[in-house]
Amino acid sequence: MTRKTKRVRKAVLPVAGLGTRFLPATKAIPKEMLTVVDKPLIQYAVEECIASGIEHVIFVTGRRKSAIEDHFDLAPELESFLEEHGKSESARTVREIGGDLQFSYTRQSVALGLGHAVLCAAELVGDEPFAVLLGDVIMASPAPATRELIEICDATGGAGAIHVERVPRERLHFYGIIDAETVESPGGGNAAWNDRLLRVKNLVEKPSADKAPSDLGITGRYVLPPEIFDYLAETKPGAGGEIQLTDGLCRLAAAEQLYATVFQGRTHDAGDKLGFLQATVEIGLKDPKLGTQFREYLRKLKL
Ligand code: G1P
Repeated sequence: MTRKTKRVRKAVLPVAGLGTRFLPATKAIPKEMLTVVDKPLIQYAVEECIASGIEHVIFVTGRRKSAIEDHFDLAPELESFLEEHGKSESARTVREIGGDLQFSYTRQSVALGLGHAVLCAAELVGDEPFAVLLGDVIMASPAPATRELIEICDATGGAGAIHVERVPRERLHFYGIIDAETVESPGGGNAAWNDRLLRVKNLVEKPSADKAPSDLGITGRYVLPPEIFDYLAETKPGAGGEIQLTDGLCRLAAAEQLYATVFQGRTHDAGDKLGFLQATVEIGLKDPKLGTQFREYLRKLKL
C-alpha cells in the first residue's frame, strides 16, 4: 500500500500544557479534566475522534496529568460497585467513555511548543497520515470536524487539511493565520466542504493585525501527512521561542500539500475562561436532560 492510500487511523492530542490560565483550579487537576456540564473537557475531543472513525488516540502528556490516563482506562472496581448497587446506567456510562479506542501516552518533558509536542508522537504515529486535535477547543457540528478533514485528505491523495474560521481583527494575534486561494474541489461526493475548499499558500503564527495575510485563523483541528515530522524536526524555535506547528505547516503549504476549509459549526475555545463559560452555557442549553430547566433559569435571571 502506498502512503497516499493509507487510512487516517491515529489522532494526537497534545495535553502537556500547565493550564496557568485556570489557576488555582488547575493547581492539582489537569486543565483537560475541568468539567464542561458533565464531562471533562478532553472527552469532547475524544468523542469527536470516535465519531470520525479514529482507532488509536495518542496523548502527549506531561507531569501531573495522570488523571487523564485514569479517566480513559478501565475501572472494573467502580463498574462492579455501580452494578451491585443497581446503577447499571452509570456503570455503562463509565465503561463506554473511550469507545473501542486504543490509547497510548508519551511525554513532552519540556514545554517547547505545539510543534514539538506533535513531534514527540512521531514514533507512535509512524509512517501514516494522522489527526491532531487541540483538546481545549470543542467543535460542535453535524459532520464531525476531524472526519471532514480526513475526507479532504483522502480526496486530495494524502495532503494535509486544517479547519479555519473568520477571526475578528483584535483577536488575530491569538491564532495561526493562513494565506490561501480558492481551488476547484478534487471531489468527495456531496461533502459539505466541496464548496469551501482552499489551498493554503502560506501561514503566519500569531501575527499583529497589520501583518496578518487574511482573517482566517486555524481553529485547532489538523490532518497531516507523516512528512510533517521531518519538517518539524528541522524547525527552529519561532513565535514565542517555541517550535511552532504552524512553521511545519508552512513547509507543507510550500509543497502545495495543505488545504483548509472554513468550519461550518460552533467552536468553543474553552482554553480561555470566557470561552469555557460560554461552552458550559451553550452545551448545557442543548443537554437533553437539563436544557429546558436551564433555559428557564437563565430567562429568570435578572441581568
Ligand atoms: C495554537 C496554534 C495556533 C492556532 C491555535 C488555535 O495556539 O499554535 O496556530 O490558531 O492553537 O487554538 P495556542 O492557542 O496553543 O497558543
